[in-house]
Amino acid sequence: MTEKRRRGVRRHEALFPLSHHHQNGLATALYLKRAGTEESEFSLDAIKGKLKLYWEEGGQQHFRDEEELLLPAFAKYDALQQPEISEMLIEHVQMRALVNQVLEATENEVDDMHQLGDILEKHIRKEERVIFPMIEKALPEEDLQALYPHFHQIDTPEEGVFFDKDRGTSQA
Ligand SMILES: [Fe+2]
Ligand SMILES: [Fe+2]
Repeated sequence: MTEKRRRGVRRHEALFPLSHHHQNGLATALYLKRAGTEESEFSLDAIKGKLKLYWEEGGQQHFRDEEELLLPAFAKYDALQQPEISEMLIEHVQMRALVNQVLEATENEVDDMHQLGDILEKHIRKEERVIFPMIEKALPEEDLQALYPHFHQIDTPEEGVFFDKDRGTSQA
């Protein structure tokens, strides 16, 4: 395997906490995308409960980790004025608005759930494939290592997804 390819598939360990958060995000995105379709095994209320759990148990904090820790560290070495970074930040705002909309709605809006699921999934994939590699390339090793203890840790990072469908349903 070439060095380039190895870098392409491996995440720097300092960013592991963020990638673990992403696994919860992808699971939540899938629930949202399937809401109200034959593929979904959960009611709209249960999916709303899963979204609330994801958001309050780390999703919201994950956005802050990226905005308050990751990007300021990147800004020391590279320009923030790049389309990928602008899109990332705009998507954070879009998703915050949609999360509030879905959680506060008195009637479940399937279209909003689908839109949120779609943006969340694409956003995470773009961060893993484009943004994180940019950051790993720009930051010196000691800066990456210095970030690690500041990222919030989820319950069982070794297992990735910290809530299973039972826990998600029971708190819905
Ligand atoms: Fe993000
Ligand atoms: Fe992220």
